[in-house]
Amino acid sequence: MDKENFFIVHKDLPREGPGSPEEVAWALELAAVGEDAVICDAGSGPGGDSFELLKAPGALVVAVDTRDAFVAQANARFAHEGRFRAECRSMEDVAGLAEAPFDFIWCAGALYFLGIPSGLGAFSKALVPNGVVAFSEPCYFTDTPSEMAQAFWEGYNTKRSDAILKDVEAQGFEVMAHRKVSDAGWEAYYQPMEMRIATLRDGAGAALTKMLDLCAAEAASWREVRSETGYLLIVARRRGDLG
Ligand SMILES: C[S@@+](CC[C@H](N)C(=O)[O-])C[C@H]1O[C@@H](n2cnc3c(N)ncnc32)[C@H](O)[C@@H]1O
Repeated sequence: MDKENFFIVHKDLPREGPGSPEEVAWALELAAVGEDAVICDAGSGPGGDSFELLKAPGALVVAVDTRDAFVAQANARFAHEGRFRAECRSMEDVAGLAEAPFDFIWCAGALYFLGIPSGLGAFSKALVPNGVVAFSEPCYFTDTPSEMAQAFWEGYNTKRSDAILKDVEAQGFEVMAHRKVSDAGWEAYYQPMEMRIATLRDGAGAALTKMLDLCAAEAASWREVRSETGYLLIVARRRGDLG
């Protein structure tokens, strides 16, 4: 992947993956996050969901991402907020954060970089007993995804919801609820990116043009396959008997 041009397209976008404030609020409510909760926004990107996480009364939100530029963007966004900080760190090591263990870990569109066993294994070590994780995961909504739907997740072992939920339970978590990430959540990611693409077209060189086409094609392709695939948002409680 041409990272340089990818980050020209993605620089300073409000979010780096699909999701909406309503979905964060839904998960916080299900998790019954109490006052002064300690929350991790894992794979936070620029902190697009941290706004909503900070609405939990008195919550302290620690965001982690492996990309420096996103961490800097998140810290700048919340510079006025004493209950937030972002750190450049892998989600594999959230248990090593000074604020761990967490009452709630939010992970939008990022756990799949590690896979459910490794990702939830790492989160399990970073949660209080009975702590809750909410994450969105690539999912097929049909047993017969088209070639285009399969190509959308090229390189990732995308599954149906029942298989995903089984994987979650196998990691010592009890699934509390799940739902599809809304089309509005996907548009909240793609529309600002498409506006950026439009501003970059004029005078773009060959490599940047190729990246602009690739990013535009991804959004167009999602709109074609959105009834067949997307993200499943899962809220799951860590079983209290884990070490
Ligand atoms: C699809 S984006 C989602 C970002 C954000 N959650 C959002 O919804 O706007 C995935 C993010 O995961 C981050 N990421 C990938 N692997 C990671 C890892 N091992 N640890 C922490 N962050 C990671 C990427 O840098 C990227 O910001």
